[in-house]
Amino acid sequence: MDELRFPDGFTWGLATSAYQIEGAVDRDGRGESVWDRYCRTPGKVVDGATGDVACDHYDRFEADVDLLADLGAGSYRFSVSWARVLPTGTGPANTRGLDFYDRLVDRLLEHGIAPTVTLNHWDLPQALQDEGGWTARATVERFDEYAGVVFARLGDRVVRWITHNEPWCVAFLGYWRGVHAPGVSGDLVAALRAAHHLHLSHGRAVRTYREQGHPGEIGITLNLAPHSPDSDSDADREAVRLSDGYFNRWFLDPVLRGSYPDDMVDHFSRLAGPLDFVAPGDTAEAAAGIDFLGVNYYQPRVVRATPGHDLGYEVLEGGSGGATTSMGWEIAPGGLTELLIRLAHDYPGTPLFVTENGVALEDRLADDGAVHDPVRVDFLRNHFAAAHRAIEAGADLRGYFVWSLMDNFEWALGYRPRFGVVYVDFQTLRRIPKDSAALVRAVFTRNAVGMDPGGGASA
Ligand code: FCB
Repeated sequence: MDELRFPDGFTWGLATSAYQIEGAVDRDGRGESVWDRYCRTPGKVVDGATGDVACDHYDRFEADVDLLADLGAGSYRFSVSWARVLPTGTGPANTRGLDFYDRLVDRLLEHGIAPTVTLNHWDLPQALQDEGGWTARATVERFDEYAGVVFARLGDRVVRWITHNEPWCVAFLGYWRGVHAPGVSGDLVAALRAAHHLHLSHGRAVRTYREQGHPGEIGITLNLAPHSPDSDSDADREAVRLSDGYFNRWFLDPVLRGSYPDDMVDHFSRLAGPLDFVAPGDTAEAAAGIDFLGVNYYQPRVVRATPGHDLGYEVLEGGSGGATTSMGWEIAPGGLTELLIRLAHDYPGTPLFVTENGVALEDRLADDGAVHDPVRVDFLRNHFAAAHRAIEAGADLRGYFVWSLMDNFEWALGYRPRFGVVYVDFQTLRRIPKDSAALVRAVFTRNAVGMDPGGGASA
């Protein structure tokens, strides 16, 4: 059987985030976050779900680390809850909150698993939101302060840091579409302002990390997607440029090139007025020089020009009409190859990690006590193979994190979408590895994906 071997030293891991798994929202001095508040706002989250208990990882982290070890993970990507560390977003650090992450890091290291730590996976302290949240320039200082506290406590043992997770979601879903916390709708300027402060705070935190003199590496994670037009028309091609600018380049360019893309500055200025919140020198600071770029890939975007739509185009639900996940997301492994090659070409010299990729399915516990998820098994194999093709084509891909270790709180969609390779029974909180967990173990431990004779990828 032929197999696709990954480069020596390639990092394999699984990913989660604090609010989605920890629970224990009122323990050990934790403050309120925007997601606690959003979940309590009627009508915002499916079934009125909250992260109050989630997977109860806060009390079960030791067993969860054992699971990671059993899956052969070389690294674990988790996030720190800002409101555990600084309950009101600023001021004296809450030692008990930091202690939790200290214990988690040590437990990982005892199992030979390298921690990859995200500082902001969307759970801004509510007290900072009360002061304007990411639309307020002062939040840049607050994030830098928070980052400095966490680096100082964990920086001797954490080898890989991620400042922000998916700032596009924070800015545009949180401050414009209102479908994520803090749930602000209708204000494009607020979203652009939020995005800018996320960029600037990223740069400041990178600088602080370097100044503290730690041995590890630091980057940022963006949600990125390859684009294609719905038709060959000039209007659809123009829609691709704008959507790529909005989704990809507005975040890539400031961080990696030190400037916003000119065409999108024109576009957003026409829609939202002058971008006067960008002060001289800001974008140079945002481009602080990262060690790697984290890429979250779920699906491509197929766009169609739509006069009258607030952006001038729309993204087609279900993409180009192929197979979709239970969330209606198109299954398109080739999009990952295309995306990684494009990044290597347009933003050369930056090592890449896939920091999230995975699939939501309607998983069920079967009569035999197992969870059979053949669609996820195929999905992951084919995406691993797609990443391998990108490496062969020259992309400097250093690692791959599967989303997610276990089923968890999927934001505004509550607990219905199941993304884990480990099933969670939300009544008992029991963890049951799915069939895909066996695939992950095989790939992680062999650093290779097998190809069956028919040409498909297998374990
Ligand atoms: C990403 C998020 C992650 C998870 C996956 C499905 O956008 O970063 O927390 O919800 O989607």
